[in-house]
Amino acid sequence: MLRLDAKAIEERIADLLAEMTLEEKVGQLTLSNGGGGHVPDWLRDAVRSGRTGAVLNEVDLDSVNELQRVAVEESRLGIPLLVGRDVIHGFRTVFPIPLGQAATWNPELVERGARIAALEAARCGVNWTFAPMIDIGRDPRWGRVAETLGEDPYLTSVLGAAMIRGFQGNDLHAPGSLAACAKHFAGYGASEAGKDYNTTNIPENELRNVHLRPFRAAVEADVATLMTSFSDIDGVPATANEFLVDEVLRGEWDFDGFVVSDWDSVSQLAVHGLTENDRESAFQAARAGVDMEMASTTYAHHLADLVEEGRIGPPHLDHMVANVLRIKFRVGLFSRPYVDPDIFPAFGCSDHLDAAREAARQSMVLLQNREHALPLRSDEFRSIAVIGPMASEPYEQLGTWIFDGDQALSRTPVQSLRERLRGRVDVRHARGLETTRSRDRDGFDEALHLAHASDVVVAIVGEESILSGEAHCRSDIGLPGAQAELVKELAGAGKPLILVVMAGRPLVLGDLPGHVQAIVYAWHPGSMAGPALTDILLGEVSPSGRLPVSMPRTGGQIPIYYAHKNTGRPPTPETFVHIDEIDAGAPQLSIGNTSFHLDVEPSPAWPFGFGLGYGDVRYRAVSCPTPELKMGESLEVIAEVTNHGPYPVDEVVQVYVRDLVGSVTRPVRELVAFRRVHIEPGEVTHVTFHIPSDDLAFHGRDMKRRVEPGRYHLWVGGSAAATLQTEFELIADE
Ligand code: NOJ
Repeated sequence: MLRLDAKAIEERIADLLAEMTLEEKVGQLTLSNGGGGHVPDWLRDAVRSGRTGAVLNEVDLDSVNELQRVAVEESRLGIPLLVGRDVIHGFRTVFPIPLGQAATWNPELVERGARIAALEAARCGVNWTFAPMIDIGRDPRWGRVAETLGEDPYLTSVLGAAMIRGFQGNDLHAPGSLAACAKHFAGYGASEAGKDYNTTNIPENELRNVHLRPFRAAVEADVATLMTSFSDIDGVPATANEFLVDEVLRGEWDFDGFVVSDWDSVSQLAVHGLTENDRESAFQAARAGVDMEMASTTYAHHLADLVEEGRIGPPHLDHMVANVLRIKFRVGLFSRPYVDPDIFPAFGCSDHLDAAREAARQSMVLLQNREHALPLRSDEFRSIAVIGPMASEPYEQLGTWIFDGDQALSRTPVQSLRERLRGRVDVRHARGLETTRSRDRDGFDEALHLAHASDVVVAIVGEESILSGEAHCRSDIGLPGAQAELVKELAGAGKPLILVVMAGRPLVLGDLPGHVQAIVYAWHPGSMAGPALTDILLGEVSPSGRLPVSMPRTGGQIPIYYAHKNTGRPPTPETFVHIDEIDAGAPQLSIGNTSFHLDVEPSPAWPFGFGLGYGDVRYRAVSCPTPELKMGESLEVIAEVTNHGPYPVDEVVQVYVRDLVGSVTRPVRELVAFRRVHIEPGEVTHVTFHIPSDDLAFHGRDMKRRVEPGRYHLWVGGSAAATLQTEFELIADE
């Protein structure tokens, strides 16, 4: 069957609805877990009788094609199946964790990663991915910060839309395109104390300006589906939240794809204490507008009765079914239910591995580089000690959510350094610790011996993949186990010491920076961790990753994010008093009244947007040629950036603004634009941005989205702490 236009799709949906029984309608709203490599009888029966319209976690192509055959040839109406999977940061070829991909600040690269993941997953019959996750990550204790695109609504919006374009392709109907699923709608990232699934407390204004913003962008990017969050928001779990799903998503944003619950999140409405039983849970979720139920079976068991009782109106049910069928048509399932794997590129082909390597390279953030310790000049040393429990871990370097990742494709740092330096430099390796969590110091002697006997030491530490991701939260986000002690003892060898951190979250590094020359923050880099890190350590590329999150100095600073409000009593360097400065002799009644902790400087250890390269980039001038901006126009911003260093660099030029007076309090800075630019040594470049006035919009007191006239400060630079400033004014319409 040829592709149908929108009108023809609606006609086909109406025809199908006219023919469907109540049970078949409910079947389209039921997402069942697959058999994991075979087709169990119960699933075959459910598909044949039209009692399930979608399957997740089946990636065996023969089983998927067989299920599709049963759906198309043996079910009464022949409606094909959606086949969903968590394809989060790659499939067989694993890209950096989403937080690492966010550190690339490179939408094209993020899109390419998602495209490759889609092609590899499509080869196994998957046609729907539960990604991108676009929850805002402002609490690094939360294990799922690894899956976020960081703390910022704008960066998350831009990169989330890029992922959607990658998964869904230019044409959702074409082979190799997956329906994307923006999740978790909404507010999941605000789980209290960074504990997964926890309650959230988000005032509506912040909900709209921060947490909902990337979802609005996802809908604008034509995302096919959304998933509701597990969490409770303002007393109503997201899965039963009419305000979120019905009012905002459907009413305000005109979303016409479908909404799926999270795993068991419909039946869990009773666990939340919102409902008494499954029937009531089904009622509340359906009433809110959750079209499809994942895993739990309250719709399967109760929705038909709820319709027959008149509690769910038949038009409401038809609307839910139509939303699902619409996506099945759009994704091309009716035209092409079966998958021919041979039309897709091979898993882990060189093209895919090259893209994963490029993504890993651009994700790594150089946080410190004292005495130009990096890049390592391989002609200046004969031996290198690569120490640490993450240095040679094909599996652990992949990070969380890698159901389908092939660790046989992994290249570790030890392997890659050996390959690259063979015959020139002796690359020695010792783990030092069995795992990142180990406290047993038995391996220290060997590690220290190697450090003393080598010219350079590279310590590769961090977190195993199990320490981040869903439900894997930590209250203390320092380096686990005895790794900090190991690094400090390695420093005692007196050799140049390069610290590489592979982790699923920004960790608190405490006083370690004072013990090492350089720090490369590598997140979990995926399959190509080794080649990418080697490229950076040996100076084949200049590091160009930038932090998508603020790195806290201590866990007690959490949540710490750059776009905070000013408060009525902001601290300044002059008002800040450290506990050690309180005079011990004389009793003191007050140390002033501004907003800070007594025991830690108010700033983060490294700010959002920060990252060094091997060049010497300086921001010289910023101007807005027309500093009076009319509503509906774009502000032109021109920045002059120079690379004074000896290496070519890729710099991420960032633009921040502050709306000085608003009808609600406004963040002290907000990212409004960024661009990666390549700058050769000695080159002076002028980077021009056009910022539409609509990008300055926010939700005011009445919760309506608006752009308010008034004065703005604007900064351009290499992080949220940029100091090069100008200002402009947004003029009201006459
Ligand atoms: C639960 C997770 O919260 C969600 O993100 C995921 O897509 C589903 N499980 C399916 O695995």
